[in-house]
Amino acid sequence: MFFALLWCISIAFAQNKAPQLTTKNIDQVIKAMTLEEKAQLLVGIDYEKKDSVLSAHIQGLEVGVAGQTHAIPRLGIPGTLLTDGPAGVRISPTRKGDPRTYYATAFPIGTLIASSWDISNARKVGEALGQETLDYGCDVLLAPGMNIHRNPLCGRNFEYFSEDPVLSGNISGYEILGVQSKGVGASAKHFVANNQETYRTQNNSMVSQKALREIYLKNFEIALRIGNPWTVMSSYNTLNGTRVMCNKALLTDWLRGEMGFKGMVVTDWYGYRDPVLQEIGGSDLLQYGVKEQVADIIKGVKEGKLPMEIVDRNVRHLLEYIVKTPHFRHYKAANETDLKGHAQISREAAEQGIILLKNNNSALPIAKNQCVALFGQGSYKGFLAHGTGSGSVNKAYTVNLEQGLENAGLSLEPELKSLYEDAEDKIAISRSYAERRAKDADVAIVTIKRDAGEGSDRLDEKGDWLLDDLEMNLLKNVSGAFHAQGKKVIVVLNIGGVIETASWSNLADAILLPWQPGIEGGNAIADILCGKVNPSGKLSMTFPVSYADIPSAKNFPSHFHKDAWDKEKKDIGWTKYEEGIWVGYRYFNTFNKPVAYPFGYGLSYTTFAYSNAKVKEKNGEYLISVTVKNTGNVAGREIAEAYVTAPKGKTDKPARELKAFVKTRNLQPGESQILTMKVKALDLASFDEASNSWVMDAGTYKVGIGASVEDVRASVSFDIKKQTVKKTPTII
Ligand code: BGC
Repeated sequence: MFFALLWCISIAFAQNKAPQLTTKNIDQVIKAMTLEEKAQLLVGIDYEKKDSVLSAHIQGLEVGVAGQTHAIPRLGIPGTLLTDGPAGVRISPTRKGDPRTYYATAFPIGTLIASSWDISNARKVGEALGQETLDYGCDVLLAPGMNIHRNPLCGRNFEYFSEDPVLSGNISGYEILGVQSKGVGASAKHFVANNQETYRTQNNSMVSQKALREIYLKNFEIALRIGNPWTVMSSYNTLNGTRVMCNKALLTDWLRGEMGFKGMVVTDWYGYRDPVLQEIGGSDLLQYGVKEQVADIIKGVKEGKLPMEIVDRNVRHLLEYIVKTPHFRHYKAANETDLKGHAQISREAAEQGIILLKNNNSALPIAKNQCVALFGQGSYKGFLAHGTGSGSVNKAYTVNLEQGLENAGLSLEPELKSLYEDAEDKIAISRSYAERRAKDADVAIVTIKRDAGEGSDRLDEKGDWLLDDLEMNLLKNVSGAFHAQGKKVIVVLNIGGVIETASWSNLADAILLPWQPGIEGGNAIADILCGKVNPSGKLSMTFPVSYADIPSAKNFPSHFHKDAWDKEKKDIGWTKYEEGIWVGYRYFNTFNKPVAYPFGYGLSYTTFAYSNAKVKEKNGEYLISVTVKNTGNVAGREIAEAYVTAPKGKTDKPARELKAFVKTRNLQPGESQILTMKVKALDLASFDEASNSWVMDAGTYKVGIGASVEDVRASVSFDIKKQTVKKTPTII
């Protein structure tokens, strides 16, 4: 009895003495942790089993988040919650035994946010995303998804921003700033060279140092510099033979060494995979966790394979993250959010990124009193707010195009409306049927839609990259019938990634590209179709004439001859990034290859003139300025894109590379704005593989400021007198 009492007292004493985590005592807490506790902290909570005693006080998995860290109450370490994802907080909308709902806002997909070329738009969406993350009791939003659009058929491109690292890096960076301004973390994902879904957890991306540095790492470099995310997600794939999750050269030497990243690295959600190598390489938090990983970390330390200093280093990254979280602050989440206010932000964000691809004879905007013949199942309940997988959102509703047009006061041709309203699938429309509709309506709108998402890539086939026969006949018949009666045909592309347009674009008078525009999509599209909002989005990628024109086409699974792919793969798949730096416009523009719509392109209901381009150097930065004037009849916003042509050097350089961009405010007819853009001198350098260095050659640098990569409107140049060389380590 006496001894039992003594034992209890000593336990209580020991517990009292255990330091409680604060922002200032992380060293002390690490010292007080047992190896078991450290290992537990480094491994996320198992999705399925939820069997950890330590997690008892935090029921995150019940709310449907993607991941959770372990709590260690003895040391005052709370559990934390990590939730997807890029287009909205992805939690379960319902909970057992709870009558209320927990819907989140679906914001426009990443590709649309990038199409706005508007960093304040990205930041604003980030703020709303961050607010919902906080309001629903989570600590990290697993976003932005920011892989480069290397090939248009990557199934997750809709979550990502662009084929260009400067556009993608900036949009990501400002979105991260927005999210984190609400006191929750963002996770820049998927780091790095994770540009396809086929064999996504295994695939070996074989990328040259030059392409890695100039394209794939550059994208993250810019985002890290601007946004300073709490976390970076190490990707599933292998890079040049080494798994990214275990890759010290990437996760430690480049990320922390060269970039100075101070946050936490979390793995993508694989479950068990080489925990010792992952920890050594620089993945701190292993998600989703399984208990075998905890056992392996403990064993690794005991057998001397995993140095304790590495464990402590990574535990420190975890604790430094934890002390920033709402759970650490004992933040009491409201568990409800401003869905109404955020729906409005979602709508405005969509309106800034919708792109007008074609507008012959001012087919758009359409007058309010018109009767619209609305074709295509995607105009009705098949309308898509976003893609599938972890980039989808559990939302309360989606405003489709039918509803959006009606909300805007347009009348819809009734027979079509009743034909399509309940349609699950595409419907064949004959020419004679279209002719009858053309008699009753003033204008035709045809929606073409495409869905894609996590886990598989799109196909270079009819029904995906190409229109299928039903869609092609629909367009032909509607176009023939309406044009015969002098009426216009407008095509709306409700898609998550690029499709082929060159073979059918002549059938339409106007083509609008609203992507997958989120919860308020139909309203946003209607605002543009009716001219309430002037379109100001521009392409964040190239629309090629044909799939075969794309440099990565022969090295992308959708086009890769299936047998060759199967035969040549050994244990894992592989993809040679043979095109090197010739990704997107860098290729098309340099080699004068015709495209359907170039990078940076988008029309407006007004016109703009560019003048007075200037450049001046100040403290290692070039300040580029230009005057943009609205020369048309309606108010509108223009995006000025600064492309640099560098002097020839030893290494390959694209004819034009985007170095900066800026969007005007809403300019009234006749109004001008002087725009200024900054480019750091070293960002003008190209990567030279032979010497493993960034080289900024001496010579004349031409700056072309334009409305697209093919439409330079004002030019200026400057000289650099002396070559600058900056050596870098090799990344394997
Ligand atoms: C995806 C990530 C996501 C994670 C958690 C993974 O399969 O690749 O983007 O954040 O799951 O849901």
